[in-house]
Amino acid sequence: MGELKIEVIPPYPIMRDYAHAPIRFIGQKRNWKSYLKKVDFNNRVAVDVFGGSGFISHTIKANNPSARVVWNDFDGYYDRFKLLDATERLRAELVRRLAPTKPKIKEKLTDEQKAIIDATLSEFEGYDQELVFSWFSHQLAVMRGEASRKYYNLRESPIPKFPDYLAGVERVKDDFREVIKHFNGLSNVVFICDPPYIFTHQATYGKKADAKESKDFHSSFSLGDYVEMIKLIGDNPAYIFSSEKSETKVVLELLNISYQVIEKDNCIGSDRGYVEILFFINSAKKSREIPSLFGEIL
Ligand SMILES: C[S@@+](CC[C@H](N)C(=O)[O-])C[C@H]1O[C@@H](n2cnc3c(N)ncnc32)[C@H](O)[C@@H]1O
Repeated sequence: MGELKIEVIPPYPIMRDYAHAPIRFIGQKRNWKSYLKKVDFNNRVAVDVFGGSGFISHTIKANNPSARVVWNDFDGYYDRFKLLDATERLRAELVRRLAPTKPKIKEKLTDEQKAIIDATLSEFEGYDQELVFSWFSHQLAVMRGEASRKYYNLRESPIPKFPDYLAGVERVKDDFREVIKHFNGLSNVVFICDPPYIFTHQATYGKKADAKESKDFHSSFSLGDYVEMIKLIGDNPAYIFSSEKSETKVVLELLNISYQVIEKDNCIGSDRGYVEILFFINSAKKSREIPSLFGEIL
């Protein structure tokens, strides 16, 4: 096994079952929660290879206490938890200073309000910039790391604490190749792979600095990476999240890998969104009882 730094997140007496990640994260798998809850991961090593917000890891650990759950925090989401006290102090001060100007949620900011926000921000440091930007900017600007001051969307109530969210989960932070290689070989491992969807916009994830500089939406996760991921999984059981646009079926078929799927319409407002697909591969190989469990969620 290669070198991989593993940090165990301290356990907490009671673990709530969250409906979404506590700090906003675009692409979190909240819509798949009910499916994930049907799978029995107890006594398995579930490796959340593209962990993002940790929502999948959280859901597995909250519902399967005896599972060993490994969360690959490639984006450093956990580091944002440590900024929450400073972010809360800033939020409270912004609410206090903006109150006399009577801002309204989703309304455009006035020049006076923008000046108050800028002055307040300049007095604070060590806060969660992405979260703070989201209080005043539309989603695209936040994705690009831009400090636009367009809309008022500041939360009026304190940011809640969530010490139980990833309690007992093991956190790693590395490239997917290293993570898969490290756990490959454990007899009871199951990989959960939710990579950036290939052939789609990926500006929100990883390599943010590049995306920010180029102001562009070039993919950072390529078809080559995708094929490498599937080859590294080898004959271990794995769940792979994908979308109809990502051509995962074609890739799996070209690699002669059999699969089972669940498809789910991801509606965005009243518009038809896109179809998300959950693949389960290698059910007939090392997976022991897992195929029947997958059968239950089909
Ligand atoms: C679709 S998101 C995962 C969302 C996650 N399942 C959740 O529920 O929040 C894909 C994640 O893969 C990460 N990622 C991108 N390139 C990676 C790499 N080379 N190795 C590991 N993770 C990577 C992205 O930064 C992003 O967090």
